[in-house]
Amino acid sequence: MRIAIANDHAAVDMKNMLIDYLKEKGHTIINLGTDTKESYDYPLAGARLGLYVREGKADIGIGICGTGIGISLACNKIRGIRAACCSDTFSAAMAREHNNANILCFGARVIGDETAKTLVDAFLNAKFQGGKHARRVSMVMDIETRETKY
Ligand code: RB5
Repeated sequence: MRIAIANDHAAVDMKNMLIDYLKEKGHTIINLGTDTKESYDYPLAGARLGLYVREGKADIGIGICGTGIGISLACNKIRGIRAACCSDTFSAAMAREHNNANILCFGARVIGDETAKTLVDAFLNAKFQGGKHARRVSMVMDIETRETKY
């Protein structure tokens, strides 16, 4: 799978750990984040990641900042992106099964490396269930174009 990963300064170590982990599993990794611990604005990382995934250059994205919240907010400002900020494996799996999320986000200051790996595994192994969930995901995406018409 082609996996794009982006991060701010708070998540450089976790990003590098995950790149090794995912490469070991045979995935192709595109590193869109910062590689230094100098202060780096998460909106840039999120926007870059969202655009990359929307353009179809990666199958899924992973966004990491201190909490996972800022980068997920930024990703979700890109039309076509469904970024889910998760700290547990159930939510990470459901984000794909029910919400067809195309980006998984989490916080390097919230979870540890082992949890990060299990979240990524849960996300990658889950499949969108379609059916009634597809209708609801379409409804979510419609908000992008008709936000004042409810
Ligand atoms: C950076 O200090 C921090 O604000 C950022 O990593 C993230 O947690 C924002 O949501």
